[in-house]
Amino acid sequence: MSRGQETGRPDDPRGATPGVIYGVGVGPGDPGLLTVRAVDVLREAGAVLAPAPRRGGDSLALSIARPHLPEGCDVHTAHFPMTEDPAVLRSAWEEAAATLLRLAAADRSAAFITLGDAMLYSTWSYLLAALRRLSPGADVRTVPGVTAMAACAAAVGRPLAEGREPLLVWPDEPPEDAGALLQWAPNVVFMKSGRHLDALADVAERAGADVVAVRRASQAGESVTVDLRAWAGDREYFTTVLMHRAAGAPPAAPSEEARS
Ligand SMILES: C[S@@+](CC[C@H](N)C(=O)[O-])C[C@H]1O[C@@H](n2cnc3c(N)ncnc32)[C@H](O)[C@@H]1O
Repeated sequence: MSRGQETGRPDDPRGATPGVIYGVGVGPGDPGLLTVRAVDVLREAGAVLAPAPRRGGDSLALSIARPHLPEGCDVHTAHFPMTEDPAVLRSAWEEAAATLLRLAAADRSAAFITLGDAMLYSTWSYLLAALRRLSPGADVRTVPGVTAMAACAAAVGRPLAEGREPLLVWPDEPPEDAGALLQWAPNVVFMKSGRHLDALADVAERAGADVVAVRRASQAGESVTVDLRAWAGDREYFTTVLMHRAAGAPPAAPSEEARS
Protein backbone atom coordinates (compact mmCIF):
# COMPACT_ATOMS: atom_id res chain seq x y z
CA MET A 1 0.00 0.00 0.00
CA SER A 2 1.38 3.38 -0.93
CA ARG A 3 1.56 6.27 1.51
CA GLY A 4 -1.07 7.99 -0.63
CA GLN A 5 -3.53 5.16 0.02
CA GLU A 6 -2.81 5.16 3.74
CA THR A 7 -3.71 8.81 3.97
CA GLY A 8 -6.20 8.86 1.09
CA ARG A 9 -8.53 11.81 0.90
CA PRO A 10 -11.73 10.61 -0.77
CA ASP A 11 -13.00 14.18 -1.14
CA ASP A 12 -9.96 15.28 -3.08
CA PRO A 13 -11.19 17.35 -6.03
CA ARG A 14 -8.53 15.86 -8.28
CA GLY A 15 -10.32 12.50 -8.36
CA ALA A 16 -7.61 9.83 -8.09
CA THR A 17 -6.13 9.12 -4.67
CA PRO A 18 -3.30 11.61 -4.53
CA GLY A 19 0.16 10.65 -3.34
CA VAL A 20 2.16 12.35 -0.63
CA ILE A 21 4.16 15.45 -1.52
CA TYR A 22 7.52 15.64 0.19
CA GLY A 23 10.01 18.43 0.65
CA VAL A 24 13.34 16.66 1.03
CA GLY A 25 16.53 18.28 2.28
CA VAL A 26 19.34 16.56 0.38
CA GLY A 27 22.18 17.98 2.46
CA PRO A 28 25.12 20.20 1.56
CA GLY A 29 26.53 18.34 -1.44
CA ASP A 30 28.03 14.97 -0.66
CA PRO A 31 25.49 12.30 -1.70
CA GLY A 32 26.64 10.41 1.42
CA LEU A 33 25.14 13.17 3.58
CA LEU A 34 21.52 12.43 2.79
CA THR A 35 19.58 11.01 5.72
CA VAL A 36 18.32 7.43 5.59
CA ARG A 37 14.77 8.85 5.53
CA ALA A 38 15.58 11.08 2.56
CA VAL A 39 17.01 8.11 0.65
CA ASP A 40 13.93 5.99 1.46
CA VAL A 41 11.57 8.73 0.28
CA LEU A 42 13.55 9.30 -2.92
CA ARG A 43 13.70 5.57 -3.66
CA GLU A 44 9.91 5.44 -3.50
CA ALA A 45 9.29 8.71 -5.31
CA GLY A 46 7.39 8.44 -8.57
CA ALA A 47 8.38 11.97 -9.47
CA VAL A 48 10.94 14.54 -8.40
CA LEU A 49 10.98 18.29 -8.87
CA ALA A 50 14.37 19.98 -8.52
CA PRO A 51 15.23 23.69 -8.44
CA ALA A 52 17.52 24.88 -11.24
CA PRO A 53 19.24 28.28 -11.24
CA ARG A 54 18.54 28.71 -14.96
CA ARG A 55 15.57 27.54 -17.00
CA GLY A 56 16.50 24.05 -18.22
CA GLY A 57 19.87 24.34 -16.45
CA ASP A 58 21.64 21.91 -14.14
CA SER A 59 20.39 21.41 -10.62
CA LEU A 60 22.92 20.76 -7.86
CA ALA A 61 20.17 19.26 -5.68
CA LEU A 62 19.39 16.86 -8.50
CA SER A 63 23.02 15.81 -8.95
CA ILE A 64 23.13 15.02 -5.21
CA ALA A 65 19.87 13.07 -5.27
CA ARG A 66 20.40 11.33 -8.61
CA PRO A 67 22.24 8.24 -7.24
CA HIS A 68 19.23 7.56 -5.00
CA LEU A 69 16.44 7.92 -7.57
CA PRO A 70 14.71 4.81 -8.84
CA GLU A 71 14.96 3.87 -12.47
CA GLY A 72 12.16 5.50 -14.42
CA CYS A 73 11.64 8.27 -11.86
CA ASP A 74 9.84 11.15 -13.55
CA VAL A 75 12.32 14.03 -13.08
CA HIS A 76 11.43 17.71 -13.59
CA THR A 77 13.21 20.97 -12.88
CA ALA A 78 11.73 24.29 -11.83
CA HIS A 79 13.33 27.66 -12.37
CA PHE A 80 12.90 30.29 -9.66
CA PRO A 81 13.80 33.76 -10.96
CA MET A 82 16.42 35.77 -9.05
CA THR A 83 14.13 38.69 -8.34
CA GLU A 84 12.64 40.40 -5.32
CA ASP A 85 9.40 41.17 -7.16
CA PRO A 86 6.80 39.52 -4.88
CA ALA A 87 4.30 38.96 -7.71
CA VAL A 88 6.87 37.20 -9.91
CA LEU A 89 8.09 35.07 -7.00
CA ARG A 90 4.59 34.15 -5.87
CA SER A 91 3.67 33.05 -9.35
CA ALA A 92 6.85 30.90 -9.64
CA TRP A 93 6.12 29.26 -6.28
CA GLU A 94 2.49 28.62 -7.17
CA GLU A 95 3.50 27.17 -10.53
CA ALA A 96 5.94 24.79 -8.81
CA ALA A 97 3.34 23.89 -6.17
CA ALA A 98 0.79 23.16 -8.91
CA THR A 99 3.38 20.97 -10.67
CA LEU A 100 3.92 18.99 -7.45
CA LEU A 101 0.16 18.55 -6.99
CA ARG A 102 -0.11 17.31 -10.56
CA LEU A 103 2.89 14.97 -10.23
CA ALA A 104 1.55 13.48 -6.98
CA ALA A 105 -1.99 13.17 -8.21
CA ALA A 106 -1.66 9.83 -9.93
CA ASP A 107 -1.39 7.68 -6.81
CA ARG A 108 2.33 8.19 -6.41
CA SER A 109 4.47 10.39 -4.25
CA ALA A 110 6.35 13.40 -5.53
CA ALA A 111 9.37 15.03 -3.91
CA PHE A 112 10.73 18.56 -4.13
CA ILE A 113 14.43 18.35 -3.38
CA THR A 114 16.38 21.19 -1.85
CA LEU A 115 19.93 21.78 -0.63
CA GLY A 116 20.81 21.40 3.04
CA ASP A 117 17.78 21.38 5.30
CA ALA A 118 14.36 21.99 3.80
CA MET A 119 13.29 24.43 6.51
CA LEU A 120 16.30 26.74 6.55
CA TYR A 121 16.40 29.49 3.88
CA SER A 122 14.88 27.12 1.38
CA THR A 123 12.42 27.58 -1.48
CA TRP A 124 10.57 24.67 0.08
CA SER A 125 9.14 26.99 2.77
CA TYR A 126 7.42 29.06 0.05
CA LEU A 127 6.22 25.96 -1.78
CA LEU A 128 4.82 24.61 1.48
CA ALA A 129 2.80 27.80 1.92
CA ALA A 130 1.66 27.71 -1.72
CA LEU A 131 0.62 24.05 -1.40
CA ARG A 132 -1.44 24.89 1.69
CA ARG A 133 -3.13 27.71 -0.24
CA LEU A 134 -3.79 25.68 -3.39
CA SER A 135 -4.75 22.38 -1.77
CA PRO A 136 -5.31 22.65 1.99
CA GLY A 137 -6.11 18.94 2.26
CA ALA A 138 -2.97 17.71 0.49
CA ASP A 139 -0.71 15.36 2.44
CA VAL A 140 2.53 17.33 2.54
CA ARG A 141 5.52 16.21 4.58
CA THR A 142 9.01 17.56 5.18
CA VAL A 143 12.16 15.44 5.47
CA PRO A 144 14.92 17.37 7.25
CA GLY A 145 18.46 17.46 5.91
CA VAL A 146 22.03 18.14 7.01
CA THR A 147 22.55 21.90 6.94
CA ALA A 148 25.37 23.64 5.12
CA MET A 149 26.54 25.17 8.39
CA ALA A 150 26.94 21.69 9.90
CA ALA A 151 29.09 20.66 6.94
CA CYS A 152 31.11 23.90 7.22
CA ALA A 153 31.81 23.36 10.93
CA ALA A 154 32.86 19.80 10.16
CA ALA A 155 35.21 21.04 7.42
CA VAL A 156 36.79 23.57 9.80
CA GLY A 157 36.89 21.22 12.77
CA ARG A 158 35.42 23.77 15.18
CA PRO A 159 32.03 23.48 16.88
CA LEU A 160 29.34 25.96 15.90
CA ALA A 161 28.50 26.46 19.59
CA GLU A 162 29.21 24.76 22.88
CA GLY A 163 27.57 24.49 26.29
CA ARG A 164 25.22 27.41 26.91
CA GLU A 165 26.62 29.61 24.14
CA PRO A 166 24.09 31.13 21.76
CA LEU A 167 24.48 30.72 18.02
CA LEU A 168 23.25 33.43 15.70
CA VAL A 169 22.61 32.97 11.97
CA TRP A 170 22.68 36.00 9.71
CA PRO A 171 21.81 35.82 6.00
CA ASP A 172 23.17 37.92 3.17
CA GLU A 173 24.44 41.49 3.75
CA PRO A 174 25.78 41.97 7.30
CA PRO A 175 24.27 44.83 9.30
CA GLU A 176 26.28 48.06 9.50
CA ASP A 177 27.32 47.36 13.08
CA ALA A 178 27.83 43.62 12.58
CA GLY A 179 30.34 43.52 15.44
CA ALA A 180 27.37 44.07 17.77
CA LEU A 181 26.10 40.62 16.80
CA LEU A 182 29.04 39.16 18.70
CA GLN A 183 27.79 40.85 21.85
CA TRP A 184 24.60 38.81 21.61
CA ALA A 185 26.21 35.58 20.56
CA PRO A 186 29.85 34.48 20.65
CA ASN A 187 29.21 32.44 17.50
CA VAL A 188 27.75 33.87 14.31
CA VAL A 189 27.12 32.07 11.03
CA PHE A 190 26.90 34.35 7.99
CA MET A 191 25.08 32.57 5.19
CA LYS A 192 24.74 33.72 1.58
CA SER A 193 27.88 35.69 2.38
CA GLY A 194 30.01 35.16 -0.76
CA ARG A 195 29.39 38.77 -1.87
CA HIS A 196 30.20 40.27 1.53
CA LEU A 197 33.63 38.87 2.36
CA ASP A 198 35.43 42.24 2.47
CA ALA A 199 32.81 43.61 4.86
CA LEU A 200 33.00 40.52 7.04
CA ALA A 201 36.82 40.68 7.12
CA ASP A 202 36.46 44.27 8.40
CA VAL A 203 33.99 43.16 11.06
CA ALA A 204 36.26 40.36 12.28
CA GLU A 205 39.29 42.67 12.38
CA ARG A 206 37.46 45.39 14.31
CA ALA A 207 36.02 42.88 16.78
CA GLY A 208 39.23 40.83 17.09
CA ALA A 209 37.13 37.77 16.27
CA ASP A 210 38.20 34.46 14.77
CA VAL A 211 36.78 34.10 11.30
CA VAL A 212 36.82 31.45 8.64
CA ALA A 213 35.08 31.14 5.28
CA VAL A 214 34.08 27.80 3.84
CA ARG A 215 32.96 27.20 0.32
CA ARG A 216 31.37 24.17 -1.26
CA ALA A 217 31.56 22.22 2.00
CA SER A 218 31.35 18.47 1.38
CA GLN A 219 31.42 19.04 -2.41
CA ALA A 220 34.27 18.57 -4.88
CA GLY A 221 36.34 21.73 -4.46
CA GLU A 222 35.58 22.19 -0.76
CA SER A 223 37.90 24.88 0.59
CA VAL A 224 38.47 26.85 3.75
CA THR A 225 40.28 30.15 4.36
CA VAL A 226 40.86 32.61 7.16
CA ASP A 227 41.88 35.21 4.55
CA LEU A 228 38.39 36.31 3.51
CA ARG A 229 39.72 39.11 1.29
CA ALA A 230 41.49 36.56 -0.92
CA TRP A 231 38.09 35.21 -1.98
CA ALA A 232 36.19 38.49 -2.04
CA GLY A 233 36.34 38.89 -5.83
CA ASP A 234 34.94 35.41 -6.47
CA ARG A 235 31.46 36.10 -5.07
CA GLU A 236 30.93 32.34 -4.82
CA TYR A 237 27.34 31.58 -3.84
CA PHE A 238 28.15 28.45 -1.83
CA THR A 239 30.11 30.37 0.77
CA THR A 240 29.43 30.45 4.50
CA VAL A 241 31.39 32.45 7.06
CA LEU A 242 31.79 31.28 10.64
CA MET A 243 32.76 33.94 13.16
CA HIS A 244 33.61 33.33 16.80
CA ARG A 245 34.44 35.72 19.60
CA ALA A 246 38.14 35.14 20.28
CA ALA A 247 38.75 32.57 23.03
CA GLY A 248 38.74 34.21 26.45
CA ALA A 249 37.56 37.56 25.06
CA PRO A 250 34.76 39.22 27.02
CA PRO A 251 31.77 40.50 25.05
CA ALA A 252 32.92 43.71 23.34
CA ALA A 253 31.47 46.95 24.71
CA PRO A 254 28.45 47.99 22.71
CA SER A 255 29.18 50.63 20.10
CA GLU A 256 27.43 54.00 20.34
CA GLU A 257 25.12 52.90 17.53
CA ALA A 258 24.19 49.63 19.23
CA ARG A 259 23.47 51.50 22.51
CA SER A 260 21.17 54.08 20.95
C1 LIG B 1 19.50 29.47 0.20
S1 LIG B 1 20.67 29.05 1.42
C2 LIG B 1 20.35 27.33 1.62
C3 LIG B 1 20.62 26.85 3.01
C4 LIG B 1 20.30 25.36 3.18
N1 LIG B 1 18.87 25.14 3.10
C5 LIG B 1 20.84 24.79 4.48
O1 LIG B 1 20.09 24.16 5.24
O2 LIG B 1 22.02 24.96 4.75
C6 LIG B 1 22.14 29.07 0.46
C7 LIG B 1 23.35 29.37 1.30
O3 LIG B 1 23.70 28.23 2.04
C8 LIG B 1 25.10 28.15 2.15
N2 LIG B 1 25.56 26.89 1.55
C9 LIG B 1 24.80 25.96 0.93
N3 LIG B 1 25.53 24.90 0.61
C10 LIG B 1 26.80 25.17 1.01
C11 LIG B 1 28.02 24.44 0.97
N4 LIG B 1 28.07 23.21 0.47
N5 LIG B 1 29.12 25.01 1.51
C12 LIG B 1 29.08 26.25 2.05
N6 LIG B 1 27.94 26.97 2.13
C13 LIG B 1 26.82 26.44 1.61
C14 LIG B 1 25.68 29.36 1.46
O4 LIG B 1 25.84 30.38 2.43
C15 LIG B 1 24.59 29.69 0.47
O5 LIG B 1 24.65 31.03 0.05
